[in-house]
Amino acid sequence: MNFDYNMTRVNRIIGHTDYKEYLVRLRERERGRKFCCHNLTHFLDVARIAHIINLEIKLNINIELIYSAALLHDIGKAVEDPENIGHSKLSANLAEPILYDCGFLDREVECILDAILNHNNETIKDSGDNLARLLYRADKLSRPCYICDVRNICYWSLDDKNLQIKI
Ligand SMILES: [Fe+2]
Ligand SMILES: [Fe+2]
Repeated sequence: MNFDYNMTRVNRIIGHTDYKEYLVRLRERERGRKFCCHNLTHFLDVARIAHIINLEIKLNINIELIYSAALLHDIGKAVEDPENIGHSKLSANLAEPILYDCGFLDREVECILDAILNHNNETIKDSGDNLARLLYRADKLSRPCYICDVRNICYWSLDDKNLQIKI
């Protein structure tokens, strides 16, 4: 079965030298971490959940924007944060040059960076349906709290935790 999606620019991200370096650094920084990790498995979980929601509720958001935002949303955790600006902002800073290198246009980069910047912003929970809200939802839905040994000491609120499979 073939799907008629053009994933050229998404695959450029996966092959981008800086992106691959951030994945390696992330793995090193999170070695031994007992809480959820931020790795390619998480990024693809988020991408696929977001894609499913996008199809289910007919948002019609371009799949390359969804996958790009998901692949890049946590890469800021690969680097130090001496000024305490948070990993969302760090991720957006690291993502911007990669997105341009991979051929995304100004308005697409703006949309992806907005989603990355807001993927942890609770105030967008009830905002309109756009890429930022989609990424927020998919990111939260991606975590299997129902089988997590450390869920009782995780910082997520009880409301946010996935105590059952939801989709
Ligand atoms: Fe995050
Ligand atoms: Fe995430």
